[in-house]
Amino acid sequence: MTAPLRYQSGFRNHFATEALPGALPVGQNSPQQCAYGLYAEQLTGSAFTAPRHQNLRSWLYRIRPSVVQSAYQPLENRRVHTSPLDKPAADPNQMRWDPVPLPDAPTDFVDGLLTIAVNGDAGAQSGVGVHVYAFNEDMTERFFYTADGELLFVPQQGALRLRTEFGELEVASGEIAVIPRGVKFQVRRAAGVEAARGYLCENYGSPMELPGLGPIGANGLANPRDFLSPMAAFEDLEGDFSLVAKFSGRFWETRLNHSPLDVVAWHGNYAPYKYDLANFNTINTVSFDHPDPSIFTVLTSASDTPGMANLDFVIFPPRWMVAENTFRPPWFHRNLMSEFMGLVHGEYDAKAEGFLPGGASLHNCMSPHGPDAETFDKASTAELKPQYQGNTLAFMFESRYVYHPTAAALEADFRQRDYVDVWSTLRSNFTPDQR
Ligand SMILES: [Fe+2]
Repeated sequence: MTAPLRYQSGFRNHFATEALPGALPVGQNSPQQCAYGLYAEQLTGSAFTAPRHQNLRSWLYRIRPSVVQSAYQPLENRRVHTSPLDKPAADPNQMRWDPVPLPDAPTDFVDGLLTIAVNGDAGAQSGVGVHVYAFNEDMTERFFYTADGELLFVPQQGALRLRTEFGELEVASGEIAVIPRGVKFQVRRAAGVEAARGYLCENYGSPMELPGLGPIGANGLANPRDFLSPMAAFEDLEGDFSLVAKFSGRFWETRLNHSPLDVVAWHGNYAPYKYDLANFNTINTVSFDHPDPSIFTVLTSASDTPGMANLDFVIFPPRWMVAENTFRPPWFHRNLMSEFMGLVHGEYDAKAEGFLPGGASLHNCMSPHGPDAETFDKASTAELKPQYQGNTLAFMFESRYVYHPTAAALEADFRQRDYVDVWSTLRSNFTPDQR
């Protein structure tokens, strides 16, 4: 029986939380020594001199500082990659995958990671890595962090218990969670979950933020109050523990004689958070045509070019799809931005079949794509009346940088090699004599 978790709400607020009363120093009350014999450790998520509204840092008051660990040793891993790949394999072909299979053998989150595609250059702090995870074992003596980027979890099957230095988050399918770069954590299954599967976007670029709302005004899309960060929680455990670090595309391991989840109190604005996608205020139905999917942006990571995102996390949630006599079919398109898509549950309105919950598709820069023939026919003849698309939750990791699929993703048994055929039956309906 685990205690219910408590959260503090707000997007990247300057939070303050303590698991023991008085653990947080106030002013000069504890000028030389922290309360309870704790160590102070600052974790920064931006350069010290970043503009104040983009400046990210938290102070952790912990039982032992992070330097109490062994030297890092390289750890063999061929499933997880970071951009750039040794042999980049950018490919203009549209691609689609079935869900990554759940493991038969005992597998924890770290061993259950598989990189599907990467772009940009992690060392230059641009681009993203797209991984999927599938596991059936809790991490117990093992902890993890990545120095290469912040992690965006999109659980598809099975709720997760993310045990972090900052406290715990429970994240179900339909919710997302973000763990900032460098934060140490452990992934367990929530109570009753046998196996878990989902998507993981590793953002090498600037930390995600809420998109500007422009002419939409002050309300709409994702609201700051619906983002939840953990309350401080700690464990004071001694033993033989492993900390796996993802650093510059490789796995490294260091040993600890204690659990690194020993932060008793913390304050700051650099912390994990979760968000229930059901709270997204969707704006969609218009007088004609479709708005661009940017109207569904939950979080965005800016690049150095205004309006050209390093990463846009976009969802296609339950929503009203059409008003009276408005155009319905999703359109065909060729885009500058490259699109990796996944499906959490239900059906995606631009595909009749083949795009399964847990599956994925990749449409790289300027590669044409759009509804399959069956969807196009159906949408072109359906009655134009208000319709609620309730059974769906798809998402997109959209990036200005071209995705390079990994060899494992290209060669995977679960890749649909005939994907391009979904458009093969689109025919000419051209009738020059008849309008
Ligand atoms: Fe698209």
